[in-house]
Amino acid sequence: IQYLCPLKKSDVLNFDLITTDPSGARAGVITTAHGAIQTPIFMPVGTVGSVKAVTQEQLRQDINAQIILGNTYHLYLRPGMDVLREAGGLHKFNGWERPILTDSGGYQVFSLAANRKIKEEGVVFQSHIDGSRHLFTPENVMDIQRTIGADIIMAFDECPPYPSEYRYAKKSMELTHRWLDRCIKRLNETSPAYGHEQTLFPIVQGSTYKDLRKISAEAIAARNCAGNAIGGLSVGEPEAEMYEMCGLVTEILPKEKPRYLMGVGTPWNILENIELGIDMFDCVMPTRNGRNGMLFTWNGVINIRNKKWAADFSPVDEMNPCDASRNYSKAYLRHLFVAGEFLGLTLASIHNLCFYLDLVKAAREQILQGTYGAWKQRMIPQLKTRL
Ligand code: GUN
Repeated sequence: IQYLCPLKKSDVLNFDLITTDPSGARAGVITTAHGAIQTPIFMPVGTVGSVKAVTQEQLRQDINAQIILGNTYHLYLRPGMDVLREAGGLHKFNGWERPILTDSGGYQVFSLAANRKIKEEGVVFQSHIDGSRHLFTPENVMDIQRTIGADIIMAFDECPPYPSEYRYAKKSMELTHRWLDRCIKRLNETSPAYGHEQTLFPIVQGSTYKDLRKISAEAIAARNCAGNAIGGLSVGEPEAEMYEMCGLVTEILPKEKPRYLMGVGTPWNILENIELGIDMFDCVMPTRNGRNGMLFTWNGVINIRNKKWAADFSPVDEMNPCDASRNYSKAYLRHLFVAGEFLGLTLASIHNLCFYLDLVKAAREQILQGTYGAWKQRMIPQLKTRL
């Protein structure tokens, strides 16, 4: 049986590929019911419906985030489907009117939940919060994502650990493909809960095996969904292997549809993968590492807790176009971290997210000018510098 994604010309997500730079990097625009997204884009992670330590107002005004992530696993456990349904979906619940993408829980179930058991039907697991037992299947994960109401929803997949034996990686990939067909079938049988269309992105797996990655990319491309994702990378493999797998897959995935590399990564990972033809990224790094005092800048990486910043009254980063970076000094931000003040977490998170959004914006400008390759080569050593 050939299962195809529910493509309805009138209401499905649209992608205009504006240009492909000589290096292979792409600039485009994705249009959703909640507005447009300029690609390449970085999507801040708002796991439980909140980008940690940052308000929706700050995301709009200071960071200019165009789309944020939510997570099925977390939102299903808390606040639960009854509250989200009654709220009218996540957009209404958290007051974020721009696009939202939800991950399927196919990753968190493996990284967070206890006593999980993978079967053909789905995954039985225990909540990391209270130990209660649950079952995720491709069908109920689609239903949950209908109730959350994100614009882009992810297929239920298994993300195998690194390293995985070939036999396991192959079986896991095949299961992910069978689950995908069940996801598509369920979506074809159900309707969006709040009127706006929801677009499914399937996920390429295959661990670090070239032949499996090719088979998976071909299987995913054949489903003809409006966008495609690459999973199972940035899970501990060497960076060179991530780039190799990503390049191999982007050769196969259709050019006219957006490509999302899940859970990646550092600023230099993002620039390298943009060159391989990736359009969308998400990662907890700017927020999680920010809350640990790690700041990303165009000149390199800062550990703001370091004593060397104690009397440095220069702005956190004058190149970064937001108040958190320009109107507060390194010395003050260090003081907030050393004193354990909440404001430090907020300023560092805003700074890093603002930087990540500025990074992809600058990349897009270079792509539009056709100068991406040389620019990327110049930027990477700078970005990696330890300040
Ligand atoms: N986030 C990062 N990697 C993955 C993956 O392989 N699958 C899913 N569902 N989410 C991810």
